[in-house]
Amino acid sequence: MPNLHEVLIIGGGVIGLSIARELHKRGIRNIAIVERGDFGKEASFAAAGMLAPQVEADSDDDFFHFCLESNRIYGNFVGELLEETGIDAEFDEQGTLLIAFNEDDLVELKRRYEWQKKQGLRIELLDSSTVKRLEPFISPDALQALFFPDNCQVENRKLVLALKEYARLNRINLLANTEISDVLVDKGNIIAETRKNDRIQAKIVILAAGAFSSLIRINGMNLFKVKPIRGQMIAFHTSQRFFKHVIYSQRGYIVPRRDGRILVGATVEDVGFDKNVTKTGVDFLSQIGTEIAPALSNLNIDDKWAGLRPFVEDGLPIIGRILDFGNLFVATGHYRNGILLAPLTAKILADKITENVESKYLRKFSPERFL
Ligand code: FAD
Ligand code: GLY
Repeated sequence: MPNLHEVLIIGGGVIGLSIARELHKRGIRNIAIVERGDFGKEASFAAAGMLAPQVEADSDDDFFHFCLESNRIYGNFVGELLEETGIDAEFDEQGTLLIAFNEDDLVELKRRYEWQKKQGLRIELLDSSTVKRLEPFISPDALQALFFPDNCQVENRKLVLALKEYARLNRINLLANTEISDVLVDKGNIIAETRKNDRIQAKIVILAAGAFSSLIRINGMNLFKVKPIRGQMIAFHTSQRFFKHVIYSQRGYIVPRRDGRILVGATVEDVGFDKNVTKTGVDFLSQIGTEIAPALSNLNIDDKWAGLRPFVEDGLPIIGRILDFGNLFVATGHYRNGILLAPLTAKILADKITENVESKYLRKFSPERFL
């Protein structure tokens, strides 16, 4: 490994890997990614892979537009990755349903329909018989639904595999089992120090360590706070695909995969760095699943896991350069949407690094808002 890297990325999740690929595609060479454990095995592995800007949005703001824009470039992103690596991330364009099961759900459904329709977004209000025709296994208690034809899903674990394969094929240095404890910035020199006191030097460093980002000290300080928010998931395995769409209620969601797995998620828990699956969590998820599709109660739970979402106090990601720290950049805090936001995060950061183009999103999500 050369002594001085052009770019060093700390964190090998979907965000770090996507940034590495984008920078490489823009012509940057001698890129390294350091990963504490194995690549893509934290939140990016735990996620449900939904690309759901409209379903999850509560209001029309900059973050919503950031999500919409990233969603628009997703097909291209996974299509290119398939050509580049031969790995199919199973981009699925069947669309997403949001079902109302009670009066409160109906009020929220209508509110969402109205403001999104005004925005000119594709959204349809469906009656219960249409919902049942589209998804025969849905509960008979479904009252109405919204259909979002542009909200899709991807197999996030395969996506991360594809990104890692891109890095391998293009000689991006993948340094697994290497934990960075400190970043030291002095007169433009940036050094990342590992827990074992090894030093890695780079001209540009990008901190993309997800929920663990603020455990890394910058010149001995914690400049911003990223908090882990646990999400537990369960999965069933069926021999064929029983559901066509991703299906949400106001309380959770089910995600049908191509191989017959049905994922049910997710809890949202503020419990520190604890990644355990709990009985309470599993019971809650079983309820979510059976509310949407009662037949799930006849199946055995095949798998369960938990991951830590990176959450920042104002709910927005932190993306951009830290001004007084030379070429030290941050890309974290994507909370519930990091899979969706990976391609656009990589693009706006690469625009900045390679062409000094400052997108309006970089201004909005700048780390400077905490400094
Ligand atoms: P991670 O994937 O956590 O990657 C960070 C990496 O940095 C890790 O591999 C870690 O080991 C490494 N690291 C940490 N500290 C160090 C260090 N000191 N040195 C070296 N390496 C380090 N998003 C969506 O868009 N759609 C969804 O449907 C969705 N569903 C979700 C469901 C659940 C249950 C959860 C938990 C999350 C979900 N998310 C979803 C959110 C999404 O998973 C995250 O926003 C995204 O994965 C964050 O990516 P990341 O690369 O920042 O973090
Ligand atoms: N976006 C889905 C989740 O975070 O659970």
